[in-house]
Amino acid sequence: MKLWGGRFTKETNQLVHNFNASLSFDQKFYEEDITGSIAHVTMLAEQKIISDEDKDTIIGGLKSILEDIKSGKLIINEEHEDIHSFVEAHLIERVGDAGKKLHTGRSRNDQVALDMKLYTRKEVLEMDKLLKNLLNSLLKIMKENLDTIIPGFTHLQKAQPITLAHHMGAYFEMFKRDRSRLKDIYERMNYCPLGSGALAGTTYPLNRERTAELLGFYGPTLNSMDSVSDRDYLIEFSCAMSIIMMHLSRFCEEIIIWNTNEYRYIEIDDSYSTGSSIMPQKKNPDIAELVRGKTGRVYGSLTSLLTTMKGLSLAYNKDMQEDKEFVFDAIDTTKGCILLFNGMLDTMTFNKDRMRASAEGGFTNATDAADYLVKHGVPFRDAHGIIGQLVLYCIDKNISLGEMTLDEYKAISPVFEEDIYDAISMETCVDKRNTIGAPGPQAMRDVIKLYDEYLAG
Ligand code: ARG
Repeated sequence: MKLWGGRFTKETNQLVHNFNASLSFDQKFYEEDITGSIAHVTMLAEQKIISDEDKDTIIGGLKSILEDIKSGKLIINEEHEDIHSFVEAHLIERVGDAGKKLHTGRSRNDQVALDMKLYTRKEVLEMDKLLKNLLNSLLKIMKENLDTIIPGFTHLQKAQPITLAHHMGAYFEMFKRDRSRLKDIYERMNYCPLGSGALAGTTYPLNRERTAELLGFYGPTLNSMDSVSDRDYLIEFSCAMSIIMMHLSRFCEEIIIWNTNEYRYIEIDDSYSTGSSIMPQKKNPDIAELVRGKTGRVYGSLTSLLTTMKGLSLAYNKDMQEDKEFVFDAIDTTKGCILLFNGMLDTMTFNKDRMRASAEGGFTNATDAADYLVKHGVPFRDAHGIIGQLVLYCIDKNISLGEMTLDEYKAISPVFEEDIYDAISMETCVDKRNTIGAPGPQAMRDVIKLYDEYLAG
């Protein structure tokens, strides 16, 4: 059963076999393995390294294996070392001697480097699609909430009024950057390692440009030692996924807070909530909590991979087989989290009255009250002090700035006039902020136009 049994005189110890084997997880890229092999033999025949007849026989066999795995007729559960051995053994069983020519001018080192790259490349695009869907959901909420007032926080203390559109827009920017990170990774990784052999290329006249082209790469990689031992793109992807998860986790934290009895800014849909086995009243934000929790797991993949690669001499070392489980888990986790989060976001409802009432409290208009004085000639630092006194006065009387009488205002500074009330209304506070990137509806509309163009492109 071993591809490499020739120089051995003993059977592998069963525990050694189990410890060494990767079939249980590298079967995930069986399709990429077969696709890579088809490109390889196509090129071998074009270069007259194998005959056209052998090529056709091999491709026929590989396609039948692919079909049978897909349909469930061929189950990958045998005692093979890895998916490469599995496919080759089945090929030889199905087509005989021609199958033994498949591995001409190839090593499992460049083969696995290719398979993992093909798999990852596909997943980078998949993830990008999921992020784009999420951005569409966010943009929809933004458009519907240009004047939904909500307090903006710093230090989790109410700071200034903003809008729900503006708050969602912050996440739009984050996920937009995440997409651009994925694009960078794709651009850098999309070079084909096939043809690098074990580490030193091969003596066969392989046409590496051709296999790169057949597999949709920009071109072949340029150093065969680096080709078989480069896992940078997996580290970069794990890092990008960690950042995506960090963004989702921050968002989830806010959703959890907004969903508390104390806040009640939002209501998570019943279909995205869970209950308690003992407390009948409970409706818990488990999905948000799980997404937040799984963030640690994805960070773990990044740290594991970086640590595995640290100190590895050139070129291939078996340590590198450890890349797969981490990265597969990170990919599945991140994709699942984006999808679940998006569903939760699409179905949650926003309690606009609560948001507005909350913005009214906590002196979120104090900065605007100070700006009012500045407009009437008071230096900003003095204005800051005056409003600070007003805030203290209000706290003492348990009222808001808007609830003070004009006489009370004038007792602290004669500059105040009747128009102070309009100047510190929530609407004015938001509407007047129209610098680029600010929550004012005009500024938001300009940005939304750019986002529409971005998502259409
Ligand atoms: N299962 C191996 C891996 O994932 C394939 C490469 C094996 N190469 C070798 N020289 N043993 O890394």
